[in-house]
Amino acid sequence: MQSNLDELEQRRARARKGGGDARIAKQHEKHKLTARERLALLLDEDSFEEWDMFVEHRCTDFGMETNKVPGDGVVTGYGMIEGRPVFVYSQDFTVLGGSLSETHAAKICKIMDQAMKVGVPVIGLNDSGGARIQEGVASLGGYAEVFQRNVLASGVVPQISLVMGPCAGGAVYSPAITDFIFMVEGSSYMFVTGPDVVKTVTHEDLTAEELGGASQHTKTSGVAHGSFANDLEMLLGTRALFSYLPLSNREAPPELPSLDPVDRPSAALDGIIPANPNTPYDMKHVVAEIVDDGEYFEIHQAFAANIICCLARIDGQSVGIVANQPMVLAGCLDINASRKAARFVRFCDAFNIPIVTLVDVPGFMPGMSQEQGGIINHGAKLLFAYAEATVPKITLITRKAYGGAYDVMASKHLRGDVNYAWPTAEIAVMGPEGAARIIFRQAADDPEKLAEATAEYREKFANPFVAASRGYLDDIIMPRNSRRRIAKALTMLQSKDLQNPPRKHDNLPL
Ligand code: HXC
Repeated sequence: MQSNLDELEQRRARARKGGGDARIAKQHEKHKLTARERLALLLDEDSFEEWDMFVEHRCTDFGMETNKVPGDGVVTGYGMIEGRPVFVYSQDFTVLGGSLSETHAAKICKIMDQAMKVGVPVIGLNDSGGARIQEGVASLGGYAEVFQRNVLASGVVPQISLVMGPCAGGAVYSPAITDFIFMVEGSSYMFVTGPDVVKTVTHEDLTAEELGGASQHTKTSGVAHGSFANDLEMLLGTRALFSYLPLSNREAPPELPSLDPVDRPSAALDGIIPANPNTPYDMKHVVAEIVDDGEYFEIHQAFAANIICCLARIDGQSVGIVANQPMVLAGCLDINASRKAARFVRFCDAFNIPIVTLVDVPGFMPGMSQEQGGIINHGAKLLFAYAEATVPKITLITRKAYGGAYDVMASKHLRGDVNYAWPTAEIAVMGPEGAARIIFRQAADDPEKLAEATAEYREKFANPFVAASRGYLDDIIMPRNSRRRIAKALTMLQSKDLQNPPRKHDNLPL
């Protein structure tokens, strides 16, 4: 009996060593933690229950029958984050470069299947050289099995991808299907084809960092939703994100009561709108005043900064906030802002997170590059996302709500539940000067007449009262009371029940 127990301990110790001390040291030299060290930081202490520690690959080609490490390069199982369950996989780069074999994939699929059955999120820690080259198509099949599960889990349980090392080839498509991708600065990259192939095909001489590093993907492509300076910060950040999310689409997000009084007035907001309508102000100050303790978790912070998307809590309840940012491109909706916000709105809607929309938008971004890039298509994504969303939708217009952008930003007409405006709101087809130039064309060349016509248009439309008189706004509120009024609306909307018509699926303009 004792020898059986000893054997188990020995086998466990062997599995926990992964690729061995030398490769672990190499991992540390690159300022990367090992797969197990990462899980220890991500999960509550002693909460990890490991599965499939003794799984080995079955490949016998290229001498692989003598190159087996128990666990086969990925640590899988479940644990807790702040006492709430989560399934995890963590690729072990010290074992054959974390490459994905048929059995490695099967381990990931097993925890994903179980996560779906019990309605629990999945967090994947990616650090892998991609498909296990020695296995050929078996490893490609393994990837596809993971992709299929990612797709079926989409909108059912939250899926988070942490990219903590290489992520190359088709391997990038599992993270791409998940809800959030985070990258570690300097030690992670994602690309469909690496620098060597790129050089051969397009003659571009690029480093891995330039081609697919965290900076590229968080600022330019928008593939990643955020980045962190190192492994530790990423894992702590992921715990913070997790606190806003429900375990599945079957339940509401967790409530985390705060000591921040829900009726706390925000006197600063009464003076935040500048006298000149073309002067920007920082919408993040408005967000911070409205949410509990001024705390929020920003998604895509460095990408399309003309729109802010963040998770926060109001009176303890998770909310998704979408807000135009007048500090960047005057808060215009362009291609990237539309894509960013559309994806976020759909995430919130899928996971029962109410959406609070703060509006200060002069319209869609005009110009050739936007039209050629398909702003019509991308703008329609945001419109579509808001229109199909059935979660509670609360909208507050702080200043401009012009043109199609007024309609799109969770207007009453797109089933906004509670639509408020500050007295400083301007709601019209377009800005007063542009409008005057068109409807008083004869005055366009006469500066005095144009100024007069502009003033007339401003007087008539650059206010919230016309919209309020039609019931498009439920009330015009004092800025200082925004937090209290939004919180009350959220409470009223807790029992909201709205369904879209039955269909196989919609046809979002992709
Ligand atoms: C098997 C692999 C491997 C792989 C790395 N290793 N990638 N083994 N299959 N795909 C092994 C190495 O042989 C080495 O083993 C160990 O992992 C560490 O690798 P190094 O090269 O020493 O590490 P490093 O210098 O840090 O370079 C990491 C790397 C490089 C950039 C990831 O290993 C690399 O380019 N690997 C191949 C990447 C690739 O082309 N993958 C296929 C992508 S296509 P030892 O024993 O020496 O420690 C793909 C298709 C998916 O994935 C399709 C899905 C639809």
